[in-house]
Amino acid sequence: MVEHRYGGDWTEIKITLLKSYMTAYTRALSGKNHFDLVYIDAFAGTGERVASVEDPMNLTQNGKIKYDGSVKVALNMIPQFQELYFIEKDQAKIENLQKIKQENQNRNITILKGDANYHVKKTCQNIKWNRKRGLLFLDPYGMEVEFETLKAIAATKRIDVCYLFPLAGVFRQAAGKISNIEPYKEGVLTKVLGTNDWKNLYKPSRQTSLFDSEISLERERGADVFDNMIYSRLNEVFSYVSSPVKLPKKGVPFFSFYYAISNPSPAAIALAKRIITHIVKNC
Ligand SMILES: C[S@@+](CC[C@H](N)C(=O)[O-])C[C@H]1O[C@@H](n2cnc3c(N)ncnc32)[C@H](O)[C@@H]1O
Repeated sequence: MVEHRYGGDWTEIKITLLKSYMTAYTRALSGKNHFDLVYIDAFAGTGERVASVEDPMNLTQNGKIKYDGSVKVALNMIPQFQELYFIEKDQAKIENLQKIKQENQNRNITILKGDANYHVKKTCQNIKWNRKRGLLFLDPYGMEVEFETLKAIAATKRIDVCYLFPLAGVFRQAAGKISNIEPYKEGVLTKVLGTNDWKNLYKPSRQTSLFDSEISLERERGADVFDNMIYSRLNEVFSYVSSPVKLPKKGVPFFSFYYAISNPSPAAIALAKRIITHIVKNC
């Protein structure tokens, strides 16, 4: 079985943000309304995260500590999800997920191997959402989530999303000068943001003089412009979008964590806002 090593302290905050929402959401929806609850993990990993720790007292297994990843958090949730979909691209990690499925034969688990964008869109379309409500976690390493996928999720009007937006990745790809962005990177930025309006963030440089043959277009400093852009893009397709939680919380943020609610009903939006306000105040 493969060991999944990635992230840091902030990764546990991310899992807490997911778990806290999931706990409140499953309690609120499975009780009085009798909805079947669906969990979709688009970047499922192995079910665990392994980290090395300093261990002079030999209290751990070979200086390693294991944390539950999103898959195990969802499986252990009570009230339970009735259907769980785990999407993962990497064959070695799929084997860990198959073992988890074997150990939970009484649960309705579907493992989907391949690209998250493809499988999320297909799964959103295939599920009959009438008496179902969904929670979907988008936890990429970087710029894998296409905005078209977010549109397909929003179109169900039944799914709440936890989305880890790759703020640092976007900022890095969008070089200071537009002329330094390679064409394929332009394409990735447009896919992630769902628009090429990001090019409007580039303005003629103050250094450009009347005698320069080409005007140099330069971006505003600071990654916040990309957070503002994805926030307004998400608001165009979802019924409610939370303000971002920056991760890590101190220093330069790598990711922005968003909650996005596709259900347009005022009751669903009010519930989500109540849950999110409570979580963000306490995280
Ligand atoms: C940050 S990890 C997910 C961690 C997991 N959510 C957890 O809490 O344990 C990202 C995962 O996405 C997988 N991945 C990367 N690109 C993918 C893609 N395009 N489609 C599906 N999975 C992908 C990686 O193999 C990796 O396991």
